[in-house]
Amino acid sequence: MTPPILVTGGKGTLGRVVVRQLTDARRPVRAISRSTTPPVDLLTGDGLDAALAEVDVVIHCATTLGSKDVVATEKLLAAAKTAGIKHLVYISIVGIDRVPLPYYKTKLAVERRIEDSGIPWTTLRTTQFHDLLALLWSRQRLPVLFYPSLRFQPVDTETVAARLIDLAGSAPAGRVPDLGGPRVEKAGDLARAYLRSTGSRRPAVPLWLPGKTFAAYRRGEHLTPEHADGLVDFDTFLAKS
Ligand SMILES: NC(=O)c1ccc[n+]([C@@H]2O[C@H](COP(=O)([O-])OP(=O)(O)OC[C@H]3O[C@@H](n4cnc5c(N)ncnc54)[C@H](OP(=O)(O)O)[C@@H]3O)[C@@H](O)[C@H]2O)c1
Repeated sequence: MTPPILVTGGKGTLGRVVVRQLTDARRPVRAISRSTTPPVDLLTGDGLDAALAEVDVVIHCATTLGSKDVVATEKLLAAAKTAGIKHLVYISIVGIDRVPLPYYKTKLAVERRIEDSGIPWTTLRTTQFHDLLALLWSRQRLPVLFYPSLRFQPVDTETVAARLIDLAGSAPAGRVPDLGGPRVEKAGDLARAYLRSTGSRRPAVPLWLPGKTFAAYRRGEHLTPEHADGLVDFDTFLAKS
């Protein structure tokens, strides 16, 4: 029997695509989150030991979207060590060491914990998912749509999931080359594409954001034009959604 691949955050935006692709490829997969049956909570560790039984490889997609990711990952690493996990694959974000966003500092701390864990590991950093930009704009309920005066290189979760699965089936490789979407685009163009796709006639209005974090984004520290390997552009993503 092939051991199942454990996917943390298996019900999230990325995790559910990873789980679906593994299932479609007839690979045994075990998805965990607080809303799976049985539930597994990485912050308390409840259900974690049972979830790791007979598992060799973990794809770690869970996030609390905040600083608790460090504790959650420490719990996962401790249990994974006891269970004898042979390979942990982690999804991170391009530029977390260059953009001083608090969540990025957390991601960097999580990367360090994984590197120091003694468990063989692979970490892939990607740019923002298409879903994230669409979500930011779908939540605005104003007569205009604001967008930051920045550029993005959004990537589709199908490409990211496929890369993670490929990495999970290979030998642990440490930090691997970054993965970005097919094009670096102005946020204004992406915002107008979003409006068109929803049939809205609202104007898109640029927003200049102050501070060191947005200065780093303006410098393009979150982009990886040399790794524009994503297969789906934002327009195609919107058409499919
Ligand atoms: N979104 C982006 O643009 C982007 C870009 C690059 C990298 N990433 C990284 O990709 C990863 C996945 O992002 P995503 O957008 O798919 O996140 P998401 O949609 O917010 O999903 C997060 C998942 O984590 C689970 N989770 C949260 N707290 C948990 C806990 N205490 N115990 C167990 N599971 C817990 C959630 O399920 P329950 O709530 O059911 O527990 C959910 O399945 C993250 O590490 C993120 O930093 C994201």
